[in-house]
Amino acid sequence: MKIYLDSANLEDVSRALESGRIDGVTTNPSIIAREGRPFKACIEDILRMGPHLTVLAEVVSKSAAAMEAEARDLASLSAAIVIKLPCTAEGIAAARKLSGSGIRTTVTLVFSLNQAIAAACAGADFVAPFVGRLDDIDSDGIGLVRSIKETLVAHSMKTQVIAASVRSPFSVSRLFIAGADIVTLPYKLLGQMIQHPLTDQGMAAFERDWVKVPD
Ligand code: E4P
Repeated sequence: MKIYLDSANLEDVSRALESGRIDGVTTNPSIIAREGRPFKACIEDILRMGPHLTVLAEVVSKSAAAMEAEARDLASLSAAIVIKLPCTAEGIAAARKLSGSGIRTTVTLVFSLNQAIAAACAGADFVAPFVGRLDDIDSDGIGLVRSIKETLVAHSMKTQVIAASVRSPFSVSRLFIAGADIVTLPYKLLGQMIQHPLTDQGMAAFERDWVKVPD
């Protein structure tokens, strides 16, 4: 199991790195736009801050050929980069082209099992189902992750599942039960994941009792 941070905010990245709990960072065009800085500068800063991190960067071109060229350019920044391609006909064609070329790919914006199957058959290293956006329209995001994982395992596919668009601590644990290999989280959820009132009460009791221990 791995946890990634779903943010390009350098303060979030720094705090998440200090927590020692992330193995990667995911971005998308909206996440990058929030930072108000050039795309490559954001990615390069994240790579510098966490040399052990896997960093997901998304292409914005429309045609498969342009996506492939953009992917090759982004991947030249570092071997830690994984290219995100949208789950469109062009994006999946680009994933097929890049598969086996040493450039790792994630097919993103996945909302159905058939989309995930198409991405896996094209040789994508990862698929990213958007759990929260499905839940938002009264669909079963966690159920989709379970179906994708079961199908990939049943057919011995190498493609791993990155659960994205995650909105609650409850979803995080359920996504891992459902078989997600990686769950990517906004910084706030990283903290919420390990909060428990009984841990706080237990710590307070230990502190109260510790002062009674004679020197
Ligand atoms: C991951 O990289 C996705 O792009 C991201 O989790 C989407 O989250 P949202 O649905 O909250 O925008």
